[in-house]
Amino acid sequence: MATKLQGFPRGWFVVAWSNDLAVGDVKPLKYFGKDLVLFRTETGEAKILDAFCPHLGAHLGHGGAVSGENIVCPFHAWEFNGEGECTAIPYAKKIPKRAKVACWPVTEKNGVLFVWHDSEGNGPAWEVPDIAGHGTPEWTEWYPNILEGVKTHPREIVENVADSAHFPVVHRTEVDSFENIYDGHKATQHTVGTAEPPQGGIDHFDITATYHGPAFQISDMKGYLHTKLLLAHTPIDEGHLDLRFAVMLEKKGPKTESFAKFYVDNLRLGFHEDIQIWEHKVYRDVPRLVDGDGPIGKLRRWYSQFYRSENV
Ligand code: FES
Ligand SMILES: [Fe+2]
Repeated sequence: MATKLQGFPRGWFVVAWSNDLAVGDVKPLKYFGKDLVLFRTETGEAKILDAFCPHLGAHLGHGGAVSGENIVCPFHAWEFNGEGECTAIPYAKKIPKRAKVACWPVTEKNGVLFVWHDSEGNGPAWEVPDIAGHGTPEWTEWYPNILEGVKTHPREIVENVADSAHFPVVHRTEVDSFENIYDGHKATQHTVGTAEPPQGGIDHFDITATYHGPAFQISDMKGYLHTKLLLAHTPIDEGHLDLRFAVMLEKKGPKTESFAKFYVDNLRLGFHEDIQIWEHKVYRDVPRLVDGDGPIGKLRRWYSQFYRSENV
């Protein structure tokens, strides 16, 4: 059983929505306690490299520019390809072999950009799944949202999977049936119940929510409408993370659009309810659990597989 989960887990993490990164865009990122640069090359590939130039240390994400498939450093114009190798130095005849920055595996699926993190440097161990319906005429595009710099540890967010007892208290939700399935890198929560949204009304729901690795969850939600929710958290440092969520809705007449807005606002409120708890709580290594609690021990064993072995 995990005691301290140090460092950052192994897995795919959401770093941006595809629409926010046009061809030629360069953005600084700060995740996993590191400075990174995200850019989109002229052929449309998204790339992530360590941010600091091996020459004199400029940040490639602040003033760097895309040139073809490369990024050009803003300080002395050294060029690096998407693998982080220096390919050109405008004023030198020789390129030193060590003129290199680390490159991070990136994948882009269903309008979402993911980076693979593994502190031991191993490549991706599983793939990001496809989201059925995305990009088809029957479904809307994503309605994305972000809550930046939430002051908590990723394990608190993931623990929601097994925490059936907080729903009525924090979210005014009655749970009729609650089930967890742990299978390799996936953890699935199936919940059937009734919600009373803060803006009023009553919604019967049936949610199947699956974590694919430690950091993002795809939910299929059947209630008044059929919706899909992507919930993702990406650690900035050991004490903070960005929480992203995006919703897409199966189209159901002209009201879909206005309902989507209402729905996203509702979700945002729901996450604020959790955040209020997360930002102020302590983590109990040995919680006092009772028979009505969900399978929190199982969840913790599942989650600890993503951390380096000596830390668990
Ligand atoms: S610091 Fe990047 S080229 Fe000099
Ligand atoms: Fe919650």
